[in-house]
Amino acid sequence: MKDIATLWWDDELGGIRFIDQTLLPEKYAIVRCTTIDRLVTAIKRLEVRGAPALGVAGGYGVALAAANCPESSYPAFVKKVTRDALLVHESRPTAVNLSWGVDRVLARVQAASGVSEAKDAALAEAKAIAAEDTRCCHAIGGFGADLLPDECTVLTHCNAGALACSTWGTALGVIRSALAAGKKVNVIACETRPLLQGARLTAWELARDGIDVTVITDSMAAHIMRTGKIDAVIVGADRITKDAVFNKIGTYMHAVCANYHGIPFYVAAPISTFDATRLEKDVIIEERGREEIALVGNRTLLPDGVPVRNFAFDATPMDLVRAIITEKGVVVPPFDINELVARSTTY
Ligand code: MRU
Repeated sequence: MKDIATLWWDDELGGIRFIDQTLLPEKYAIVRCTTIDRLVTAIKRLEVRGAPALGVAGGYGVALAAANCPESSYPAFVKKVTRDALLVHESRPTAVNLSWGVDRVLARVQAASGVSEAKDAALAEAKAIAAEDTRCCHAIGGFGADLLPDECTVLTHCNAGALACSTWGTALGVIRSALAAGKKVNVIACETRPLLQGARLTAWELARDGIDVTVITDSMAAHIMRTGKIDAVIVGADRITKDAVFNKIGTYMHAVCANYHGIPFYVAAPISTFDATRLEKDVIIEERGREEIALVGNRTLLPDGVPVRNFAFDATPMDLVRAIITEKGVVVPPFDINELVARSTTY
């Protein structure tokens, strides 16, 4: 398996390069991003998407704001970079990794003693976030692989793969690591209406690696679970509060179905996705535009004037989650976040 690089800093460019995920699977194109406006557009359009990748993009975004900032006085520099950082932070509300990545790099800018030190520290921190993300995904993969039987079929939703991270993936990282350990894993990828991250992205990256993947429509999941064809459901997460796991719309439905049929429902996510001081009620679920549901290519599916609701995420209550697979090991709800963070596991 050859690692897919999703987004990275290009020293020569002085900016970020990323795969435009809106074009997959028809076209593999790398975007050169050298302004905050372009980055914000990319995040809003889901050219860059997936919680860990958004954390990395947030970090690189602040490094980019610092690199581009023309101010020579340090207080004016910090003010401008902080303003740009807020634009990146606010570009999508649900995945906590985005604000986590922004805040982590911004803290380095604000703690520096001058402009030049702040620029260097910002870039070094952003690169560290990207490198950590890769290590986290491999560690999550290793812990998760141990939970899977030697031969199994795993259902997943949306894309929690290399494209949603720096590389390797969280939920798909578990599958990759299980295969690397010699297990035989087949994947059922739910297409994930309306933006089809499962059909377009999960199927693309698994097929590229020669991993056995079959796509179903979201509404087929219950039937396929009922007929005994699924051994485990594994999804990623955009935010994990004390009481719920936020992930792509449709995840809750799979969790209910999996529990009804006695199938383990696992969440694979790094600790940067935890927001353990908050509760489900405190989290904003992104609602997106009508056109994502009303149009398929050039075809209009809905009569004029008929409204839609387009929730991008949902919340799965913790009692439906069999376990959460993190880079520090597996936790079973109800869990103690402080104990998890304090674990000495290296990754
Ligand atoms: O709207 P998206 O494509 O950014 O949503 C992504 C998901 O819901 C993923 O499952 C989640 O971010 C976990 S990615 C490892």
